[in-house]
Amino acid sequence: MAYRHFEAIEKHAGLLGVGIAIMVSLGGLAEITPLFVEAHALKAPPNVHPYDPLRLAGRDVYVREGCYLCHSQMIRALRFETERYGHYSTAEESVYDRPFQWGSKRTGPDLARVGGKYSDDWQRMHLMNPRSVVPQSNMPGYPWLATASIDGADIQARMRVLRRLGDPYSDADIAAAPGAVKGKTEMDALIAYLQGLGIKNEPTVADGVPANDGGAP
Ligand code: HEC
Repeated sequence: MAYRHFEAIEKHAGLLGVGIAIMVSLGGLAEITPLFVEAHALKAPPNVHPYDPLRLAGRDVYVREGCYLCHSQMIRALRFETERYGHYSTAEESVYDRPFQWGSKRTGPDLARVGGKYSDDWQRMHLMNPRSVVPQSNMPGYPWLATASIDGADIQARMRVLRRLGDPYSDADIAAAPGAVKGKTEMDALIAYLQGLGIKNEPTVADGVPANDGGAP
């Protein structure tokens, strides 16, 4: 009996197509629905804060210049990754990242925890001309960032949009933004962004010391 049903489906391509579509949709829903629910349940850990105005501006430069095309910001939970880059990345660390910069293409190294690895001066020289500090580098230079200024009103508008999406910026935070980016260049902002990556949001163990366990859960 059951066999006959299958035979009908197998002998009619249209019916088979509909059957496949139904099964694939069910499978897709089973995979996707929990992710949507989980994403909304994610809360920022106490040591993860929304970007301050300068770092927010720097993050926009990072996205605009397409740094993610060569750099990921997601350390995988694999020994050879955690030994090189530090604690593996967690979803909570990215709650204020819109859009997230996890990426998957690594022409250059992962940057999820690059903050503090080099001095500001090193970062500046590297961004002006990577070959001045890493002779074999094939990363492009971004010298124009050093003369591009930041529009305070624009940053305020971005903060308001982010607040609508749930970021806890206060009116005072937004009012202070133009002052915080005044006189700064896009280069300053990008360096501030890079120097904060992974610094304040590394998962911590109970006593507040950054977990440096090579990625053990
Ligand atoms: C065409 C690919 C490419 C692009 C685009 C690119 N990079 Fe790189 N980046 C590299 C490579 C390759 C390295 C390793 C060599 C070096 O240090 O220059 C690197 C290294 C780095 C490092 C040092 C990382 C470390 O741990 O040593 C930083 C920081 C960095 N890039 C930031 C950026 C930023 C910010 C942007 C965007 C403005 C950017 N990169 C765009 C390829 C790229």
